[in-house]
Amino acid sequence: MKPEVLVLAASPSADVMAQLEQHFHCHHLWQQPREQQAGWLAGVAPQVRGVLTTGAIGIKADLLAQLPKVEIVAVNGIGTDAVDLAATRARGVAVTNTPGVLTDDVADLALTLLLAAARRLPSLDTFVRDGSWEAGKPIKPTRALRGKVCGIYGFGRIGQAIGARAQAFGMTLQYFQPRAIEGTPVPRADSLLALAEASDYLVVAAPGGAATHHTVNAAVLAALGPQGTLVNIARGSLVDEQALIAALGDGTLGMAALDVFADEPNVPAALRELDNVVLTPHIGSLTVETRHAMGQLVVDNLRAHFDGKPLLTPVK
Ligand code: 8YV
Repeated sequence: MKPEVLVLAASPSADVMAQLEQHFHCHHLWQQPREQQAGWLAGVAPQVRGVLTTGAIGIKADLLAQLPKVEIVAVNGIGTDAVDLAATRARGVAVTNTPGVLTDDVADLALTLLLAAARRLPSLDTFVRDGSWEAGKPIKPTRALRGKVCGIYGFGRIGQAIGARAQAFGMTLQYFQPRAIEGTPVPRADSLLALAEASDYLVVAAPGGAATHHTVNAAVLAALGPQGTLVNIARGSLVDEQALIAALGDGTLGMAALDVFADEPNVPAALRELDNVVLTPHIGSLTVETRHAMGQLVVDNLRAHFDGKPLLTPVK
């Protein structure tokens, strides 16, 4: 008998979906109409031994509590801030994620956002489409990246990949995270506030969760300043979104480019109305190649678990 796996969200890779069907008896929650999910779940929950979730959805204690036989939660993403790790640990439920395979694409998106903000790509795209160019309206010059300071908040795998890209554009780097990184020539600021003060662009690449919640607050945004730009490819929870809206609105902060939000997919109207902000719908890892690699790692972790082999990428 194939192990029963609850799939909370589909992978865009047809090959990954086919492998899931081949190796597991899948129950696809995402296929159920929202209003029928609770009843449907009550029917399948007693048999579920594995859960496939995403970084954004994670798994809460109440769902775990409905799954008496669950042994493993495989996260199709790197972030585990939405997984109730205290509950999984207390139950002895294994958790896996997908480190490494998404680093380059997330770093690429960070630079895409940074460049889009610096060169005002969205408003200049509109400028061509709406006939402003033909009408002879003036075009304000944008800002160059070279010689500017790129501050990176969270200097792990993704933060360092962002740094390498920013350096290729002639930017100078600094980073902040509580634990210093051994062996890097990149200077570590004394605090997040000091990093913001020193930076022209502040890129958020630290993990979400209680320790980093709202650490990018009004004081940090003010330190980044009217010529400064905030880029966030990590988690919306790190930024005080109301303070961000206020700072962008009154010019305390120059610009923001955001892939992640406090309450996805709900983006406050006040943020959407601002023209000094670039917005994308949490797509850092959403390329064909990376989503296939992530999904493959999920399948391989689930198979390893149910075959009694060591997990490939366990979350400790
Ligand atoms: C995905 C993410 O959006 O890796 C993460 O933590 O947030 C993203 O890569 C998500 O996990 C979708 O699978």
